Amino acid sequence: MDLFCYREGRLWCEGVAADELVGRYGTPTYVYSHGTLVHHLEELTRGFAPVDPFVCFSVKSCPNVHVLRALVERGAGMDVVSLGEMHRALAAGCPPERIVFAGVGKDDAELRAALLGSTDPAYAGPPRPIAMINAESAAEVDRISRVAAGLGVRAGVAVRVNPLVEAGGHAYIKTATHASKFGVTFDQCAQIAAAHRGSPSVWVRGVHVHIGSSIATADPYEEAIRRVVGLVERLGSEGTAIDHVDIGGGFAADYTTGQAPAVPTYAQRVVPLLLPLRRRGVRVMLEPGRMIAGNSGVLLVRVLYVKRSPEKTFVICDAGMNALLRPALYDAFHFVWPARVGPEHTPARRERAPEMPGLVSVDVVGPLCESGDFLARDRALPPVEPGDVLAVFTAGAYGMSMANRYNSRGLPAEVMVSGESSRLVRRRETIDDVIAHELGAG
Ligand code: LLP
Repeated sequence: MDLFCYREGRLWCEGVAADELVGRYGTPTYVYSHGTLVHHLEELTRGFAPVDPFVCFSVKSCPNVHVLRALVERGAGMDVVSLGEMHRALAAGCPPERIVFAGVGKDDAELRAALLGSTDPAYAGPPRPIAMINAESAAEVDRISRVAAGLGVRAGVAVRVNPLVEAGGHAYIKTATHASKFGVTFDQCAQIAAAHRGSPSVWVRGVHVHIGSSIATADPYEEAIRRVVGLVERLGSEGTAIDHVDIGGGFAADYTTGQAPAVPTYAQRVVPLLLPLRRRGVRVMLEPGRMIAGNSGVLLVRVLYVKRSPEKTFVICDAGMNALLRPALYDAFHFVWPARVGPEHTPARRERAPEMPGLVSVDVVGPLCESGDFLARDRALPPVEPGDVLAVFTAGAYGMSMANRYNSRGLPAEVMVSGESSRLVRRRETIDDVIAHELGAG
């Protein structure tokens, strides 16, 4: 479900037409639907209600502070992977107790911030540790222990394990294979727990898994969680009581209509496995990113030229892989459609190969000097002209967060729509912004 739809030939985000947004904010612009963000969060929370889930939004998927705030206000926690993301979560009003911190390479400054609940290097108040540090190696837990001892606190740690299940929409987003840098083996987890049992500075109390991203079936979750439940039993029998189980994120989004399973499809298989733990007081955590943010955002771009070669027609837009890297990086599919269309071209579904009269096959490309700079290839679109606006759908997750300044183009603007109102939540970068950090250049 999302609140982007066509009415009378115009694309609307909730109660605001896309062409009005372009008139007001220009292009390229990311547009987020507040109602869609909140809907997805609530749907997930409802689906997993029997285990009373603690849902931590994966900040990396869509880190704008205003997006985070919309979710924090509805009770979400935040899953962060850097000092910067933690800074954003706090800026969005997320209490430290609702933050979890993952990532294979945390440094002392990040661990200190996690244990103090502040990203301010000069912070001198009482420690307010975050909910959980999800540690990824024995050496990291040793480091946590050292930093925590220095601060006089006891760090709550979940060990990320690799359950060795095959899942994830693309080789680059699989995280639980033998070749993966993430997590530790179950035996290593048991060794870490044993090494720190009774430690005044580290409390190994959680197990964390994240098996990949864009996972459109419940099967790998079921397999991974069965293994994790077995590990929790084993750790218990060895003297480590686990009271937090974090099952990560990875739930799919609808890049094409109906592609992503509904939340109950996952929940029906996973909840029964987790219920016995929940009944023993274990807190169940989830870290969704794409499932909440993916369909909550579109990228609006403007057509600059339509260029025909003997082989192909190129629709050249004012943004490409700089604004949305996913097609170039993963060959990812995003549905692209004009923001204004005739009645015969109103899309009933978002699909790979729509069949309607009068469509033409085109490559939708950006302005960058790079052949991989495309948003869509060999795509049937209604005829477009320079000046037309195209919407790139399901761009809310890993869109703006992976945007870059390649070819010295500033980052796009971001706009939040709620009902009939819209507001700029990140201004478009200027060319002065682009060179601002190059000392003495301005
Ligand atoms: N938790 C951890 C530890 C993660 O590493 C990730 C994503 C998530 C949660 C959220 O996963 P999600 O629910 O969004 O699938 N750039 C890629 C996706 C990389 C995902 C990285 N980790 C893309 O554009 O598809």
